Amino acid sequence: MYYIDIHNHMLNGVDDGSRNPETTAKMLQLAYNDGIRGIICTPHYLPGVYTTGKAERVIRVKHLEAIAKKFFPGLALYEGCEYFASSGHFTEDLEKGRAGTLADSKYVLAEFSPATPEDVIEHRLMEIIGTGCWPILAHAERYMAFENEAFRLRVSGFAYIQINAESMLGEAGTGIKRLARKMLSEGIVTFVATDAHGAHHRKPVLSECALYLEEHFGTEYMETLLYYNPKSILDNIKL
Ligand SMILES: [Fe+2]
Repeated sequence: MYYIDIHNHMLNGVDDGSRNPETTAKMLQLAYNDGIRGIICTPHYLPGVYTTGKAERVIRVKHLEAIAKKFFPGLALYEGCEYFASSGHFTEDLEKGRAGTLADSKYVLAEFSPATPEDVIEHRLMEIIGTGCWPILAHAERYMAFENEAFRLRVSGFAYIQINAESMLGEAGTGIKRLARKMLSEGIVTFVATDAHGAHHRKPVLSECALYLEEHFGTEYMETLLYYNPKSILDNIKL
């Protein structure tokens, strides 16, 4: 079985992820060696800061895929974005081709700043649902609001929860690790992704977390989080 990474910053020159083609090449190599065969490229869309729109993202991903195919047989790349929902106006940003969905599905990867209040997170996710899209909350383990068990259980009832591989392994701090693992045991996590930003730090690898998931939650849950659920995005099937 291989992995599909639904959240990363491998496209170079569009956000705080890969800075140049060399880094992107190294990241693709790392991902490929690790067993990743599907990558949804999700550069930040952050109003006023990272503003690469959908049309440009599509061109860049197609260009990168054409090159990647020569070196990494069987590796597929897809266009997406990580939409900063704390301050944006999703409906308008979607209409204007600034925001976007993952791999032409109805799934939307939405992130917030860590201290965003509960009501803002809820309201913004509802706005996304109002457009007919299916929101995925990016790296949910980072939000202070998610320390509140009742809140995170409520949100998991209407939005999908994504956590970062490095968080569950402790690379983002003890508190974040604890919350990521707690959410896994609560069964509210739908996706685990790399959120990779580079080739040396925050790398595009999933095999280590696959081992952890397999050991603590079993093979089936590991495969669901790293392959089957991500595959449902590519197939645009609602989970
Ligand atoms: Fe990200």
